[in-house]
Amino acid sequence: MENFERIAILTSGGDAPGMNAAIRAVVRAGIKNKLEVYGVRRGYDGLINDDMIKLDSAAVSNIIQTGGTFLKTARSPEFLKKEGRARAYDSLKKHQVDGLIVIGGDGSFAGASLLSREQNFPVIGIPGTIDNDLYGTDYTIGFDTALNNVMTAVDKIRDTASSHNRIFFVEVMGREAGFIALRSGIACGAEAILIPEVDGQLDKLMDLMEKRVSQKRSSIIMVAEGEREGNIFDMAKMVEKKFKDQDVRVSILGHMQRGGSPTAFDRVTASRLGVAAVDALLNDQRSIMVGIANNEITHVPLNKTIKLNKSINKGLLEIVDILI
Ligand code: F6P
Repeated sequence: MENFERIAILTSGGDAPGMNAAIRAVVRAGIKNKLEVYGVRRGYDGLINDDMIKLDSAAVSNIIQTGGTFLKTARSPEFLKKEGRARAYDSLKKHQVDGLIVIGGDGSFAGASLLSREQNFPVIGIPGTIDNDLYGTDYTIGFDTALNNVMTAVDKIRDTASSHNRIFFVEVMGREAGFIALRSGIACGAEAILIPEVDGQLDKLMDLMEKRVSQKRSSIIMVAEGEREGNIFDMAKMVEKKFKDQDVRVSILGHMQRGGSPTAFDRVTASRLGVAAVDALLNDQRSIMVGIANNEITHVPLNKTIKLNKSINKGLLEIVDILI
């Protein structure tokens, strides 16, 4: 075991519910292991500008139930540059930090991996993004809360959709991936789910609409924001054009998906991953992500999490085909 005395933690990229629970776990696990823990504010921007505070156990009281990240976050263009990363490393050295924990998604891990390699410095990643699009972990912190946010919103849309016999196209987040759309679509009983990982969905959609419109039934079409077969408004127009008497509406759920109190699942996942990240540092791991696979903690090289794509769950796709 290296002689660790001081570690730092930051959150980076889009915030995700459960990040606070992970920070709390890192701080408390660090203190249990007699480490000093520093919190970096505003992600890599704060690291570059030496914006750090010492965190004690009380500093992370009463935050497990809150959404967002109390350390704040940023997408840092400066950290993409080698000079930016060198300045960030200067801050770490100035405060005699021996290891860094980064909570974020693949963009944040790309920076973490470069910093670790360029400075030969231990960096551990904790997967935190609502998109769940990171290779090497079944779940990312925030995904479950986002699913529940979508489900609550779409249940409400369903009431009005069915009252008016309307077709609703609902767009959910996920960047280039369809994990949120697929799982929330199943949870909401969506009549169709359009995700970037599956081709040829538009023809199928038209056939399905033909049937439902003739039966005067409402429909929820869940569309991932990264869908490649077309823009949600164009798809809605296509359906409107073909079924002239049919009312069609579009609803973009947007950033409400990222907010709110984390679910129990996200709080527990975040707590497990926070403790695992401190353990990993103390066991001389460097440049890895701690993840969860088959409910066990795993260690995956940061490089792999950036380069490899996580595949969509085929079992869930089959369920969609059966249930629609
Ligand atoms: O990565 C999380 C995410 O919410 C994506 O689903 C979405 O595409 C993106 O961030 C939005 O980013 P911003 O909040 O910077 O607009």
